[in-house]
Amino acid sequence: MTIDARACAALVLSQVTSDGRSLSEALPAAVQAITDARQRALVQELSYGTLRWYYRLDAMLQRLLKKPLKQRDADVRCVLLLGLYQLDQLAMPQRVAVNETVQATHALNKQWASGLVNAVLRNYQRQSAQCQEAVAVEPVARFAHPAWLIERLQSDWPDDWETVLTANNARPPFSLRINRQCMTRAEYLEKLTELSLEARPLAHVDTGIRLDRPVPVDILPGFADGYISVQDGAAQLAAGLLDLQPGQRVLDACAAPGGKTAHILESEPALAELTAVDVEARRLLRISENLSRLSLSANLVQGDAAATADWWDGQSYDRILLDVPCSATGVIRRHPDIKLLRRAEDIAGLVRLQMQLLQAMWPLLSSGGMLLYCTCSVLADENSDQIGRFLEAQKDAAELPIAAGWGHECLHGRQILPGENEMDGFYFACITRTA
Ligand SMILES: C[S@@+](CC[C@H](N)C(=O)[O-])C[C@H]1O[C@@H](n2cnc3c(N)ncnc32)[C@H](O)[C@@H]1O
Repeated sequence: MTIDARACAALVLSQVTSDGRSLSEALPAAVQAITDARQRALVQELSYGTLRWYYRLDAMLQRLLKKPLKQRDADVRCVLLLGLYQLDQLAMPQRVAVNETVQATHALNKQWASGLVNAVLRNYQRQSAQCQEAVAVEPVARFAHPAWLIERLQSDWPDDWETVLTANNARPPFSLRINRQCMTRAEYLEKLTELSLEARPLAHVDTGIRLDRPVPVDILPGFADGYISVQDGAAQLAAGLLDLQPGQRVLDACAAPGGKTAHILESEPALAELTAVDVEARRLLRISENLSRLSLSANLVQGDAAATADWWDGQSYDRILLDVPCSATGVIRRHPDIKLLRRAEDIAGLVRLQMQLLQAMWPLLSSGGMLLYCTCSVLADENSDQIGRFLEAQKDAAELPIAAGWGHECLHGRQILPGENEMDGFYFACITRTA
C-alpha cells in the first residue's frame, strides 16, 4: 500500500499537538504499514523536525494565516507546519516540498485545504526573510521552546541557558555501549571500520562509542548477540559511579527499559543479586527483552518502588540506583515532543514523587552503602535542590563527592548539560548511609 509520508507525519503531529500523545507512541504505530524504508525515514524526519522547531514554525504560521483553523482541522494545521519546516530548515528543493505538501491534503481527504496550503507556503517563500526576522525577536519562537522552560533555564543556569536551548535543538548523537564481557572497545571500533561505519570513542566512559551517523541497529555487528547496546554516554556513567564490587546486593529501583540494569550486570558479573523494579508492567517487559538479548538475568519486580512492603525481602542493599521519573528536560534533543507535552505545573508533582521515592528507598540501604540518585533533568528543583532538601531532613545521609572531569559541580551532586562532552543532560548525586 502506498501511504503519503507527509499525510502520515501530519497525523502523527496532530496526535502529539492535539491529543497529548508522545512521539514514541504515535510514530511507530503510524509507520507500521509503510514498507518503504525511505518513506518511513521521511515520516520520522518530518515528525521529529517539526516538533523540534514547533514554536518557531507556529509563530510563522500565525503570521501567515488570516484566521486560525478550526480544531477539527488540526491535521491541516500540521500539514502547514511540516510544510514550513521543510522550507525553513531542510535543504530540499522548495518546489518539491510545496507540491508534495499540497498533495498531502488529498491523502487526508481534505481537498478543500489544498489551495490554502499552497497559498500559505508560497506566501512564506515570497516573504521568508521578513518572516524569519519577525520571529527572531520573540524568545519563544527564536529558541523554539515554551516560555516557562526558557524562564526556568534562565533562572537555574544564568550563564548557560542559551547554550542549553541551542543544544536542545540539535540532532542527538548516536551512541553505543560496548559489552566489555564480549570484547574491548578498540576491537569493536575495528569492526565498525571494516564496515566503513565512521565511529570514535566517547570521552569519560570506557564503554562508549559515538557513530557519525545513526544506523539501524541490525546492521551493527554483534547487536543480536549482545555485544553492544544503544545508550547515551551520560547514562553510561551510572554503573561506574556505583563503584560495584563482587558479592554486593544491588537494587535498581526505577529500572525500565533496563539500559542501566544491563550495564550494571555487564560491569560486575559477580554481584550477589540485582533486583530491578518498575511500576509499569509493559516497560518491565522491555527490561526482560533487553536482558535476554544480552544473555543477562536479574530479579525483575513489577511494582511501586515506594510500596516496599509489597516486594522487599527485608535484606538491605549495598547499592541502590534511583533513576527517578523526571521532567526529561535533559533529553529534549532526543524527544522534542517534551517541549509540548511537559507543562510548568508538572514539575511540582514530579519533585514530590522523587522525594517520596528517595524516602522510601532510604531504609533499604545498608549502613555504609551508597544510593545513586539520577535524573535526565536540568532543573535544579529535581536535582541539586532536591538532594539538598533530602540531606537536610535525613540525618544519617551524607553526600559523597563526585570527582570527575565531566559536567558542572553543583551545591549537591553533578550536572551534565545537554551536548556537553557529546552527552545528554543528566544529573547524579551519590549519598551514603552513615552509622
Ligand atoms: C527514567 S526512567 C528509568 C530508566 C532506566 N533506569 C534505564 O536506564 O533504562 C524512570 C522509570 O521509573 C518508572 N517509575 C515511575 N514511578 C515509579 C514507581 N513509583 N516505582 C517504580 N518505578 C517507577 C517508570 O515506569 C520509568 O520506567
